[in-house]
Amino acid sequence: MTQLQVSNVPLDTECRPDFPALHQDVNAHPLVYLDNAASAQQPSTVIDTVAHYQRHDHANVHRGVHTLSYRATDAYEGARDKIQSFINAGSRSEIVLTSGTTESINLVAQSYCRPRLAPGDKILISHLEHHSNIVPWQLVCEQTGAELIVAPINDKGELIIDAFDKLLTDDVCLIAIAHVSNALGTVLPVKDIIAKAKSRGIAVLIDGAQGVPHMQIDVQDLDCDFYAFSGHKMFGPTGVGVLFGREALLDAMPPYQGGGDMILEVSFDGTTYNDLPYKFEAGTPNISGVVGFGAAADYLQSVGMARIAQHERQLLDYMMQKLGEIDGIRLIGTAAEKASVQSFLVDDIHPHDLGTILDHQGVAIRTGHHCAMPVMDFFGVPGTARASLALYNNADDVDRLVDAISNARRIFT
Ligand code: ALA
Repeated sequence: MTQLQVSNVPLDTECRPDFPALHQDVNAHPLVYLDNAASAQQPSTVIDTVAHYQRHDHANVHRGVHTLSYRATDAYEGARDKIQSFINAGSRSEIVLTSGTTESINLVAQSYCRPRLAPGDKILISHLEHHSNIVPWQLVCEQTGAELIVAPINDKGELIIDAFDKLLTDDVCLIAIAHVSNALGTVLPVKDIIAKAKSRGIAVLIDGAQGVPHMQIDVQDLDCDFYAFSGHKMFGPTGVGVLFGREALLDAMPPYQGGGDMILEVSFDGTTYNDLPYKFEAGTPNISGVVGFGAAADYLQSVGMARIAQHERQLLDYMMQKLGEIDGIRLIGTAAEKASVQSFLVDDIHPHDLGTILDHQGVAIRTGHHCAMPVMDFFGVPGTARASLALYNNADDVDRLVDAISNARRIFT
């Protein structure tokens, strides 16, 4: 068994018992779960918190005068406070609860950008964005006549900073950029980018879906205008996410959707909108999901993001080294700064075939274009196999991955 020195108390040893889904056989093999970038498993504390809420406290929020509605509201708003603390936002008004990163980005596109954009204006993204940080901008550009411009990447999957800087002109309304690439694992220098943007008065949105599970996020330290992320990538439920927005910007933005809870007063003559953040939360929200999201934030804070980052960095180095030793492998995404993700191709085995053969050996990875078709085009491939790590993974998982790939090569050659 490979020994990996990760810390005095190995994080995976400490955390694996917390995740019931990890302790099962899949296709007669103990599960190795390496598809965390798609969706991470949930610890018992999240599962139990949601179950307790469903069993005892469920009612609609912000509406009732009865006890369960108060309890549901306390649980929901308490989760907002936990998430505020998790990313060190200055105010709970800056935490807009959404259905996920995708909705958060669409909200900014339609509510912040659409009223501001005119022909000649630009939105700047990078070549390594997820579709959810491309298509909302294409839509708003079509609606307004603005232009979407794309900063290039190099063969390692790194943003080419000089080229990015040249695109940073005064007609750029907003920069929308990933914190961590979901397809390549590249960590972008978002703090530098934000500082440059700020010096020119350009707003910045960070797609943090792949950042929050892996590193400490401090939105005040980053000084970003918007930071979007999802619950299910950080060990919480699906269907919930956050848009952090700077209060002054959110205040000036019109609502994204109309409906219940986002209003103060409605008449046929007009409507006055609710205060932040409720102005952006129309309709009954995913209450149980948000409650679980808060429990996930608590869990990560109790483990410690610095420990998680250190563990995953060492494990990623180990995984890249072991994968790199496999004959016929092509590693895609070899940036100097990476987090938790490695894409690869093996010989001419189609990634879907590889993923299926790995699944037969109990190893779960993702295959395909990873909702990042422009990245695949850049590397001249239709898709890749992708292993993505979380705090509970360990060197044994990596060894099982490598053995499973070797078995697949034997089948195909
Ligand atoms: N965006 C998710 C992924 O990278 C679904 O797999």
